[in-house]
Amino acid sequence: MKLQMIVSILMLSHPTLSDVFNPDPSIFPDWSKYTKFDPEQYIQMKRLGSPSISPNRKQMVYQQYQYNKTTNSSKMNLRWVDISKGFSSAIDLTPNVNGQIDNSPIWINDNTVAFLAVRGSPNLNIFTVSTTDGSINQITNFTNGVMGIAYGSQAKRIAFISKVYKGKGIEESAAQRFQISRFPSSGVVYNKLFVRHFNEYVLGDKYQLFTMPISDQGPIKSVGDPVNVAEKYSGEWGLEPDSYNFSPDGKSILFSAKIEGKKEAWHTEAGVFQGPVDGSTAPIRLNPNFKGAASSPVYSPDGTSIAWLQMATPGYEADQNQIILYNITSQKQTRLIPDWEKSPAIIKFSDDSKKIVFIAPYEKDVSLFIADIATNKVSRYTSDGTVRSVSQIDDKSFVVTLSSMQFPDSLFILDVCQEPGKLNQLTFEDKGVLDKLWLSPTQTFWFSGAMNDPVQAMVLYPFGFDPTKKYPVIYLIHGGPQQSWNDGWSTAWSPNMYANQGFVVFIVNFHGGDAYGQKFTDSIKNNWGTYPYEDIMTGLDILTSNAQFVDPNNIVGIGESYGGYMINWLNGHTDKFKAFVNHGGIFNTISMYYMTDELWPLEHDMGIPWKFHSRKIYKANNPEKFTKNWKTPTLFTHGELDYRIPITESISAFSVLQRKGIDSKLLYFPNEDHFISNPPNQLKWLSEILGFFGSYTNTTVWQLN
Ligand SMILES: *[C@@H]1O[C@H](CO)[C@@H](O)[C@H](O)[C@H]1NC(C)=O
Ligand SMILES: *[C@@H]1O[C@H](CO)[C@@H](O)[C@H](O)[C@H]1NC(C)=O
Ligand SMILES: *[C@@H]1O[C@H](CO)[C@@H](O)[C@H](O)[C@H]1NC(C)=O
Ligand SMILES: *[C@@H]1O[C@H](CO)[C@@H](O)[C@H](O)[C@H]1NC(C)=O
Ligand SMILES: *[C@@H]1O[C@H](CO)[C@@H](O)[C@H](O)[C@H]1NC(C)=O
Repeated sequence: MKLQMIVSILMLSHPTLSDVFNPDPSIFPDWSKYTKFDPEQYIQMKRLGSPSISPNRKQMVYQQYQYNKTTNSSKMNLRWVDISKGFSSAIDLTPNVNGQIDNSPIWINDNTVAFLAVRGSPNLNIFTVSTTDGSINQITNFTNGVMGIAYGSQAKRIAFISKVYKGKGIEESAAQRFQISRFPSSGVVYNKLFVRHFNEYVLGDKYQLFTMPISDQGPIKSVGDPVNVAEKYSGEWGLEPDSYNFSPDGKSILFSAKIEGKKEAWHTEAGVFQGPVDGSTAPIRLNPNFKGAASSPVYSPDGTSIAWLQMATPGYEADQNQIILYNITSQKQTRLIPDWEKSPAIIKFSDDSKKIVFIAPYEKDVSLFIADIATNKVSRYTSDGTVRSVSQIDDKSFVVTLSSMQFPDSLFILDVCQEPGKLNQLTFEDKGVLDKLWLSPTQTFWFSGAMNDPVQAMVLYPFGFDPTKKYPVIYLIHGGPQQSWNDGWSTAWSPNMYANQGFVVFIVNFHGGDAYGQKFTDSIKNNWGTYPYEDIMTGLDILTSNAQFVDPNNIVGIGESYGGYMINWLNGHTDKFKAFVNHGGIFNTISMYYMTDELWPLEHDMGIPWKFHSRKIYKANNPEKFTKNWKTPTLFTHGELDYRIPITESISAFSVLQRKGIDSKLLYFPNEDHFISNPPNQLKWLSEILGFFGSYTNTTVWQLN
């Protein structure tokens, strides 16, 4: 009763919220006109990425990937569109051919796009394509692959990263790797962490940043050897630049890189560096005053300033990102919008250098904001949906990549004359598929969660919704824990696909999430099992006691990573779920600490397990401690190459249920990491998940044949 009261009070301040539990019939279509969205359609949808605007701001180019289940083949090509003419002008800039993977386009000039491709070369190399006649030129032919190209028009250099050995060039490194592969012994000695990182063993080679001079007159070609810009860096060798760009005058290059060394597995410290484009002197670190992570460094177009994102707390990867402005002349740092409580993820300068354009998680959305440097005034220009990239067209408009739970990443023109801005869709790549689908709108409500803080929930309705029926619920539990479910499209998680398969989809952005202010994020420290669990169960109570269309005896839950930790935790703490799916989840907080690659997330959130006080926190929040209570059937899914949360965590949890004689399954992928990324594996994964939930909720679902 108390819970229902809370909801009605909140509803008064948000009049549309009653619609969540009594949805307006007009939001549902004539079902006979639509087909059910299933994994086969989902996994074969086009995936747009790497949008890039031409120097004259009239054209966009982007990469597009598509998998075809019938032929079990993938292809990726470059697409081109004229911004003023709209989607009718869109063409394949490079041919769309099975097996070809043209990607990462950047503009060299208004008629030439550089990109990465193999195209018969030994590895990923740099090519160009002409936007006037489509002719393709190969620029490099390295055996050692290159990635992450960027162009400096004044520097007349292309920057890229390539994995090389200390003191070795690009091709020398390929030779060295080949030589090592022929050693009679395969043993590798480590004297520091990392041994493994994310999905691979750490060997002697590192991604280093190179710049290569090119001629941009006539046919583009390389006119000199690539130089390693951090070769002369005096700190520990091996800086791996993750974000870089050229200064407007073409003399310098700016990059961020994690600081290497013996402590790198438990520190997050990253440097922002500036150095000469030819590597003639060592890059200089601009943020030695900070010991936290740094990212997204950018030059102002007028060349006077640099901005980057800076976390202040050492060892905390989910600390608030502060926007730091650095005056190149005075070398002074100032913090922009110091009172803003959310955390920007990507920043850029406006063309006039007077504003910072940024993207930040904001409640259920990831929105575009503009901060005025002189006044610290912040304006929010998008609301519903997830913005992933932004490029400026002119004073009043931008091209953004936007998605929601209803449509995949698409380009939109955003007019910022008023707040919120006006959106005009530019690309409609999968219109044919989307037109045949009804995808539930993202409905939200707020409730009072742990510590009486407001917590946001999302609801999606099933295909063929009939308010007089009772539907099973799939409860989606996010990972992180310092992340949130966004109203956006992902290529591995489609809440609307689950909804279309006959389920009410329910999401609660519980404490620890990154879109509700830093205090909300920080609250999860020492509290992995407490506040999130409270939010999850309170949200479920509110749903089942208010939504007549929900069958309270037919609830299933799924989570990955920290979400999988929470699945194991729920198994020891509640009987309200019929079945669970746990992807790559943590079983034992203590063994997890010793096995994972990056030690900092657990050290920040729970401490070091051999210290007395921290040991108590690890134990209190350990799902393993409650295995005695486990009784809910669970499907575990895990990739062998997951070194973030090793597969032994799932095998351990599976052992518990098997030993107790409780129905359980383990789906093992030898060639996947923390995420299931290969489309044929994604189809198998979704088929097993739907099959497991379908059998426990008596729901007919799509199955792989
Ligand atoms: C996959 O390829 C087959 C055979 O070429 C074709 O008929 C089908 O339309 C393709 N599917 C998609 C989703 O493009
Ligand atoms: C499908 O393609 C994947 C990736 O190229 C390959 O590993 C797999 O063997 C193929 N499966 C079949 C049945 O051809
Ligand atoms: C690229 O290098 C390979 C050898 O690694 C060679 O066979 C090929 O001919 C080269 N291609 C070009 C365009 O130079
Ligand atoms: C940078 O500092 C210099 C010297 O103090 C000052 O003259 C200049 O106006 C500053 N530039 C910006 C963009 O604030
Ligand atoms: C399962 O669903 C079918 C068809 O919807 C129904 O006839 C049957 O009674 C249900 N079984 C159970 C155990 O609820």
